[in-house]
Amino acid sequence: MSPMFAAATTSIAWIIFAITVVGWVVYFFANRRATQPELGSEIELAANRKPYYDDEVLEGSRLERVQLLGLLFLVVIVIGLPLYWVLEPSRQAGATTAEDRRFVAWGGQLFATTAEGGFNCAGCHGATGGGGQAPYTTTDPNTGEVQSVLWNAPALNTVLYRYDESELKFILVYGRPFSPMSPWGLAGGGPMNDQQIDTLIAKIKDLQIVREGCLPSESDPRVCASGDLPQAERDKIDQAATAAANKLVAAGKYDTVEQAMGEALFNLEYSSGAYSCARCHTKGWSYGQPQTTGGGAFGWNLTGGSTVRQFPDQVDMIAFVSAGTEYGKRYGVQGQGGGRMPGFGAMLTAEQIQAIVEFVRSL
Ligand code: HEC
Ligand code: HEC
Repeated sequence: MSPMFAAATTSIAWIIFAITVVGWVVYFFANRRATQPELGSEIELAANRKPYYDDEVLEGSRLERVQLLGLLFLVVIVIGLPLYWVLEPSRQAGATTAEDRRFVAWGGQLFATTAEGGFNCAGCHGATGGGGQAPYTTTDPNTGEVQSVLWNAPALNTVLYRYDESELKFILVYGRPFSPMSPWGLAGGGPMNDQQIDTLIAKIKDLQIVREGCLPSESDPRVCASGDLPQAERDKIDQAATAAANKLVAAGKYDTVEQAMGEALFNLEYSSGAYSCARCHTKGWSYGQPQTTGGGAFGWNLTGGSTVRQFPDQVDMIAFVSAGTEYGKRYGVQGQGGGRMPGFGAMLTAEQIQAIVEFVRSL
């Protein structure tokens, strides 16, 4: 039911409350005035010894008045109770929405930049979670040389397209080691307790780009049970990939744009959101110093035919890239998922995933 209904119920409740309060005030003053003249009259006859109504009044006008009052209350109950019953579900829905909004607002305070008193998610990932860049220092393990870099911080407004809620929670609690993304949960050594992490997740849910054909999940209306990335966003990915593929052709690496598509998508830089595979599977890619393509970083080494050995049938690998890994669940010939490889099925088309997979298998 609509929140408007719920708002109406709340207003009605307030009006009844106001009438009751005003009624009591009027009753109080009326009563006081009525009692005052009696002062002193009890010298002749005590107030409790005043003669009561005679039979005529008692069985006549007085009885009728009481009966009328009874009828009035009956009407109130007959109309009021069913009305309450009809409006109750929308009142409850309204209360839930209001509570959700409060959590999102609290999560927004945690998400905000340091200057605004938050934990600076907004500073690195953008105020609306569209992605950004984070200053970081890397140390060369061989030479010990330290250098400042700008590391791509991925978009968070699509993060629930790629991970489920428990995987998102894991990232927030434990961070991404060897990257600017520090652990935020107490268990990972960060500053936030479990409630704060959950409140933050409410905010991240609210940031998500609404899915096309979204069917709200029953347990949480902010999360879509199904639906894909809206066409406008898909077009952006498509344009970025085509532009990158054109560059590869111009550089003489491929003959046609179709052939170049796999590599273009693997290295895709979609706005500053950086959804690509290279972000995790190519060391240094995130700060503009890519080493061996697919050579492994946070995500595993995909070169040397390892993915062909893991997925002898290409179809299985396409399904794997679409779904990502699930914690503890097996994949491929002998893989066990960590829940950290995101699923791309809700963001990329089947053809795009196939192009990427063909490229990865050639590494
Ligand atoms: C200092 C900058 C910085 C801050 C502050 C920061 N992040 Fe990150 N975050 C990053 C970077 C960089 C990555 C990508 C790391 C990588 O390359 O694997 C990342 C990764 C993530 C991811 C994984 C997304 C994906 O698709 O892989 C999530 C979720 C996330 N951050 C949420 C948050 C939240 C919520 C906060 C606030 C509590 C936050 N981050 C604060 C820089 C930051
Ligand atoms: C957020 C980081 C991240 C991104 C982005 C990512 N991966 Fe992964 N990938 C991983 C991790 C981590 C694993 C290891 C499995 C696990 O921990 O769940 C993995 C595993 C894999 C494997 C299995 C390797 C093996 O030998 O078992 C393949 C294949 C793969 N990724 C392909 C891709 C492709 C293709 C893309 C882009 C469409 C991609 N990955 C994007 C992190 C990532």
